[in-house]
Amino acid sequence: VDGSRHALRAVETAAELARRFEADLTLFTVTKELKLTPEVKRYLHLEQLAGEPQYVIDEHTEQIMAKARDVTDAAGVPRVRVEVRAGNPARTIIEYAQAHRFDCIVMGSRGLGDADGMLLGSVSHKVASLANCTVVTVKG
Ligand SMILES: Nc1ncnc2c1ncn2[C@@H]1O[C@H](COP(=O)(O)OP(=O)(O)OP(=O)(O)O)[C@@H](O)[C@H]1O
Ligand SMILES: [Mg+2]
Repeated sequence: VDGSRHALRAVETAAELARRFEADLTLFTVTKELKLTPEVKRYLHLEQLAGEPQYVIDEHTEQIMAKARDVTDAAGVPRVRVEVRAGNPARTIIEYAQAHRFDCIVMGSRGLGDADGMLLGSVSHKVASLANCTVVTVKG
């Protein structure tokens, strides 16, 4: 889930699959790692703003995941987990799915960067190519 309408469509499909196969469903998002230079950290600390940038990211992520959660709740999926990780999106998704032996990854064909005429975004392309489990790419 990346906050795009495509990803939310993918959650609908994932919810339907989870219900039909009585599967566990994990709503997964990868946020950006917040890279602050020591100077910026020191400035934030002096201005007592430390923690605020992280808070902004968390709030945004929280809203994204709450929307996704609404979709799985409406679909009546009983076992839903929400996981947030920071890092490179494709690599983090693939590694998490492998580590937890997921049967299937469901994602949108495009995401937030839906601008040019590409059929797949870079994250869905990488995950579909490199994951060692089934990948469902939801279109439309
Ligand atoms: N940070 C992320 N965390 C979790 N899932 C993501 C993330 N980014 C993308 N995805 C998943 O991958 C799907 C395709 O998004 P992707 O980023 O590949 O397309 P894009 O944003 O249109 O292209 P690009 O990012 O290459 O500009 C999304 O619908 C979502 O399911
Ligand atoms: Mg993207």
